[in-house]
Amino acid sequence: MSDAPRRILLDCDPGHDDAIAMLLAWGSPAVDLVAVTTVAGNAGIENVTRNALGVARVAGIAGIPFARGASRPLVRHVELAPDIHGDSGLDGPALPEPALELDPRHGAQLIVDTVMAADPGEITLVPTGALTNIALAARLEPRIVPRVREVVFMGGGVGGGNWSATSEFNILIDPEAAHIVVNEDWPVTMVGLDVTHRALATPEVRARIDGVGTAPARFVGELLDFFGVTYLASQGFVHPPVHDPVAVAAVIDPAVLELRAAPLDVELSGTLTLGMTVADLRAPAPEGHRQRVALGIDADLFWDHVVDALERIGDPA
Ligand code: BDR
Ligand code: CA
Repeated sequence: MSDAPRRILLDCDPGHDDAIAMLLAWGSPAVDLVAVTTVAGNAGIENVTRNALGVARVAGIAGIPFARGASRPLVRHVELAPDIHGDSGLDGPALPEPALELDPRHGAQLIVDTVMAADPGEITLVPTGALTNIALAARLEPRIVPRVREVVFMGGGVGGGNWSATSEFNILIDPEAAHIVVNEDWPVTMVGLDVTHRALATPEVRARIDGVGTAPARFVGELLDFFGVTYLASQGFVHPPVHDPVAVAAVIDPAVLELRAAPLDVELSGTLTLGMTVADLRAPAPEGHRQRVALGIDADLFWDHVVDALERIGDPA
């Protein structure tokens, strides 16, 4: 396989950890960020889109399209996460005015166009919010399915949830979309709470980020300050888990995660278990099974990649 950077489209709802995912994707030489789409989730679509453009300015991201995507889940009412991310979706640091113009296309259309314009097997989709746009894109243009190299999403988990006892936020707010995405015939990797709850912004991690000494690194520090307070208050974490960049890191470096092939589905009819991601780990999956779940993480290596990306981004002009 070639060592050329993996071309990724980030579909996100910034969101503190989404913002860090965007910085990691932009700064890492192992991936080529080709487009960003937004989806309602941590905050409403206008806020998360505005936040994405603000983060782009902080990181000096230019020359790629950003498009606003779905304003609500496929079937259900919008559910936001102000207790974790604040009312803006990105409370804490001051955000600069955007420098980029929003692409006029719907996010789902940009996903379709990006995949169809690239060679088959070239584009990896990395969703770090509800899977609404990815599901819409697959329905809008089914020919993208065999052309996508892989979908690597942050969401779900095999060992319990964070928005209900069984279910994780990104999946629970749009379970129908998640059901579509894990059941489409493309390779799909679930980067769930089993690993992201171990990607903690400890004081040692904070010291490394602070040591970078650039404006984007200070921005990340301020994101983590806010995230740390809300995660302690709402979920009892002493150090906040930084979910979304783990999905990006999984594409950057296969050594970050321990993955296991397993049949995977999303519960749509449970009364207590709506949105649960169910992986069948009873026996090895058949050779070539297209669904994988993350079960282990090298957290030090993960943070090495985040710090390296920040160092490479430097202080954008
Ligand atoms: C996920 O939910 C969101 O609040 C975060 O941005 C992350 O994508 C974690 O459950
Ligand atoms: Ca997110």
